Amino acid sequence: MPHYPPEPFRIKMVESVRLISRPEREAALRTAGYNLFALNAEDVFIDLLTDSGTGAMSQEQWAGIMRGDESYAGARSYQRLARVVQEIFGFELFVPTHQGRAAENILANLLIQPGNQVPSNMHFDTTEGNIRARGGLPVNLVIDEAYDPQNRHPFKGNMDIAKLTAFIEATGVENIPFGSITVTNNAGGGQPVSMENLRAVADTYHRYNIPFFIDCCRFAENAYFIKTREPGYAEKSTREIAREMFDLADGTWMSAKKDAIVNIGGLLAVRDPRLFQQVCNQLILREGFVSYGGLAGRDLEALAIGLEEGLEEDYLAYRLGQTAYLANRLLEAGIAVIEPSGGHAVYVDAGRLLPHIAPADFPGQALSAALYLEGGIRSVEIGSVMFAHPDPETGKMVHPRLELVRLAIPRRTYTQSHMDFVADTFIKIKESKDGLRGFRFTYAPELLRHFTARFEPV
Ligand code: F0G
Repeated sequence: MPHYPPEPFRIKMVESVRLISRPEREAALRTAGYNLFALNAEDVFIDLLTDSGTGAMSQEQWAGIMRGDESYAGARSYQRLARVVQEIFGFELFVPTHQGRAAENILANLLIQPGNQVPSNMHFDTTEGNIRARGGLPVNLVIDEAYDPQNRHPFKGNMDIAKLTAFIEATGVENIPFGSITVTNNAGGGQPVSMENLRAVADTYHRYNIPFFIDCCRFAENAYFIKTREPGYAEKSTREIAREMFDLADGTWMSAKKDAIVNIGGLLAVRDPRLFQQVCNQLILREGFVSYGGLAGRDLEALAIGLEEGLEEDYLAYRLGQTAYLANRLLEAGIAVIEPSGGHAVYVDAGRLLPHIAPADFPGQALSAALYLEGGIRSVEIGSVMFAHPDPETGKMVHPRLELVRLAIPRRTYTQSHMDFVADTFIKIKESKDGLRGFRFTYAPELLRHFTARFEPV
């Protein structure tokens, strides 16, 4: 069994976790309406719900928290962040936001008219929600390989340039306020996008005068994948690679809760000064003044430090090694996952593991519930609960192509024994998988329904 590089850190502070008893887990799950978002976190043993805001900050970041400048305007911490953003991303014009979806909301509000369409490789759920909330239509144009879990294409987050060109021609430039790409492609398995593809995407958008935005919350992981998988990049630093990525774009937004290893925070950066002025006005209306954007000064300080730490290569080698380790353990046990393993998470193919549960009965939800019951592990369904939606014309349910369960790994938080416990829990579930049943909604809101839906077993 290949191991991954030892953690390039040691543990200075610990937080106890506890596996409550099976009857307690059953009761907790029932009370939660079988939605793992509704569990009390204390009832979870290993929390792989998300890698967002759940990482462990370093001693430098905690020291930065104490140095945070809480001035309303022009704080020292803001200036430090501005310097780091300028160095890493190369954007002069940026605002902090309280998280990624705040940036999405501002962009969608400013740029999207009803009937507009926004292409990407794959939009994440909050991006989709923000586009739809303004009457727009999110369009996913990832390469077909992304939908084949066993296809080991090294850059399964790539966008299909032929599909993109055809889409632009068919939709009309006037109906496409901006184009985007998500790095890494969270909704499609945490898969990276190659530099070659980023360049082709940028060229295509720019040929049609469509502004190009990168949804970049996992840009450092993407840069490290480019370094290790794309010819010509082995000798470049992840920092140089990141800069090369952003030099292609007209703007970017980031949920800093991922690769900047902070518990809260985000960014929105643009090149167009006129758009920036509008962004600032929206920010002041909704989030806060331009030099803090809904964050405390201490958050800005931790964010500035975390952006640099997130690019360190010994950390990234360990980080992506840990994800690959868990993926390999599951593969060895005969459990299908998206291959090759992605950056921040292992995506288990629940549709394949539970073929007796129809997409309409939510196989991913069934597997997530089983993981909690068996091992107190919290995961998230990324399948029909999250993405099935009625066809606007026929009203018939359209199901996503894959029914997945995501095991998102918080940064610098869990050890190899935790990963082994997760793999062993899967092996137990596999032995009795034919007894698992699906779920149906007892409540579901219209947008982003996975967060608050309630279920009952079929
Ligand atoms: N874009 C991507 C690709 C994301 O993965 C997320 C969040 C967002 C935007 C929104 O950022 O949460 O700061 O508002 N993803 C988290 C996840 C929630 O679990 O994958 P946010």
